[in-house]
Amino acid sequence: MIRILTALQPSGILHIGNLFGAIEPMVRLQAEKSENLLFIVDYHAITVPQDPAQLRRNILFATATYLAVGIDPEKTILFQQSRISEHTELAWILNCLVHMGELERMTQYKDKARGKGESVSVGLFDYPVLMAADILLYDTNIVPVGEDQKQHVELARDLAERFNSRFGETFVIPQPQIRKEGARIMGLDDPEKKMSKSAPSEKNYISLMDDEATVLKKIKSAVTDSGSTISYEQNRPGLANLLTIYSLVTEKSIDQIVAEYEDKGYGDFKIGLAGAVSAYLTPIQEKINGFLKDERSLLAILDQGATRAKTIAAKKMELIREKIGVRL
Ligand code: ADP
Ligand code: TRP
Repeated sequence: MIRILTALQPSGILHIGNLFGAIEPMVRLQAEKSENLLFIVDYHAITVPQDPAQLRRNILFATATYLAVGIDPEKTILFQQSRISEHTELAWILNCLVHMGELERMTQYKDKARGKGESVSVGLFDYPVLMAADILLYDTNIVPVGEDQKQHVELARDLAERFNSRFGETFVIPQPQIRKEGARIMGLDDPEKKMSKSAPSEKNYISLMDDEATVLKKIKSAVTDSGSTISYEQNRPGLANLLTIYSLVTEKSIDQIVAEYEDKGYGDFKIGLAGAVSAYLTPIQEKINGFLKDERSLLAILDQGATRAKTIAAKKMELIREKIGVRL
């Protein structure tokens, strides 16, 4: 059976870009015959400083969010990375195969380390190796990720091949599956750049937890061009982005929406869009809050996911130890 695996960092704010770009595709995959794994990479999160109480809340919030948008823990193995110690164990072994130069070339590391000088953590440098371990431990065939993670999946492939040629066939060579551009939501205040929680202004993104008034305010202040009609054109990126969001939250086609606003202006369009976004988010917010109120059930779901993941990981790790000669 094909195994599909992806993981997300437990970051506090999740915006609609994360939802449509990263979480929804995993929800849709549940209709396939593959075995799917989705996990929260808390040990990747600590490569930059984290407040422990906040990290704990973020892990629970991420779990509640996945469940609220339709991840079914029966169909998807949903778990927390730090619960499966084999991830860090395999990362160590891969550390002994990876070359310094390979990690120095990683774009994400270069971006994140810029300006930090010698004080950047070794964890941040080693981040792609832990990610390779995440993937290889489960004999993963397909890794759905954003374009920015492609280089990391390629490193996982290189390390799998290196290990296999040194110690004999052990790992499946994973394939990255890069999400299409359509799934990329741009910033409301700057449609040339992707929507991101690390943008300087909160007006850049719509958080999953924004209330109706906030959504309206942010959409009203979203950057559009000076035209007055509603149409989808490459050279009107602000409007094109808003139309994409409208289409995603209503499941209507862009043509259909454009037709609805044929003789209306930006004002009506933005009010309509804000209403559609809130109508989409409100039930999700209610579900998230419901799950967060029942922490024991959330923990039980993560426990069950960890048990299933552990079974696969422990067996694979035994084979790996045997291959490298430490299992007597
Ligand atoms: P952020 O830029 O907000 O910090 P992350 O880097 O934590 O987002 O991304 C988490 C996941 O969400 C990744 O899989 C990434 O590809 C996806 N993602 C982030 N921003 C967007 C966006 N604007 N549109 C679509 N997908 C996105
Ligand atoms: N580095 C990925 C990101 O920031 C998260 C991640 C960690 C991941 N381990 C993974 C993604 C394994 C896919 C597979 O988006």
